[in-house]
Amino acid sequence: MSAPERIPPRSVTTAELLAEGELTVRGRIRDASNAALYCTVRYDGREAACIYKPIAGERPLWDFPDGTLAQREVAAYEVSEATGWGLVPPTVLRDGPYGQGMCQLWIQEQPDGELLALVDGEEPEDGWKAIGFADIGGGRTALLVHADDERLRRMAVLDAVINNADRKGGHLLPTDEGRLYGIDHGVTFNTENKLRTLLWGWAGEPLTGEAVEVLKGLREALRKGGALAERLAGLLTPVEVDATRKRIGALLESGRHPEPSGEWPAIPWPPV
Ligand SMILES: Nc1ncnc2c1ncn2[C@@H]1O[C@H](COP(=O)(O)OP(=O)(O)O)[C@@H](O)[C@H]1O
Ligand SMILES: [Mg+2]
Repeated sequence: MSAPERIPPRSVTTAELLAEGELTVRGRIRDASNAALYCTVRYDGREAACIYKPIAGERPLWDFPDGTLAQREVAAYEVSEATGWGLVPPTVLRDGPYGQGMCQLWIQEQPDGELLALVDGEEPEDGWKAIGFADIGGGRTALLVHADDERLRRMAVLDAVINNADRKGGHLLPTDEGRLYGIDHGVTFNTENKLRTLLWGWAGEPLTGEAVEVLKGLREALRKGGALAERLAGLLTPVEVDATRKRIGALLESGRHPEPSGEWPAIPWPPV
């Protein structure tokens, strides 16, 4: 007779840990533009560090009158999950000591000086993509460049889909396992084009075959009744979800990375 199979203990997923765990505030993040609290979350013997941004601590924004920053941060995570690229750390909506808010896994950043640089000259060297010229004081300008890195290129596609109005250098967190996460997605999903990013290096270039496949998958998941449409329904307005469908449609139609609409690329300020 064979021994009964051992049932392994059910492991807690990171999203469950974040959503169900006991949240303890450890400190406040200085310089955040809205209330952002560094916390630990504990559930079933597992503990993780996270950031909790209560909705009550959000400053109103005239150009984002609907919804909340917290809901859009979760919506950005849902879209990132639907791409399969895992570019946004696990993010949930939950209750906490200051009420409802977003809770996101804390990523231990491993600064790698290789993502952004200011260089002399008119053209970037191999391995770099031009963003634009930046005033560096004293009447001088330098070329701002970002790495020609496939993780950044995927992030640029995600940002085009979510219409990210604030992709700065400090919102890109490389880890020592070689991953790259994007954070701070409160100003996204506007129905008007607000793409403001540093990642303009591929503007106008054809999308990779991989990106086209991912966009087709998103289009499918976002059709009425699709899995992603259901997930976004509680987070965004129907008009915002529709605008997201249109952005995906436009990307697939052009087959190219979007280009800045003005004379100068729309770059967040400060860029880092
Ligand atoms: N998930 C995270 N992992 C690691 N650091 C984070 C995370 N989220 C935020 N931070 C840190 O906290 C700072 C403030 O958070 P951010 O999301 O930029 O808030 P705000 O919307 O107020 O600008 C970030 O610049 C970053 O240094
Ligand atoms: Mg920020």
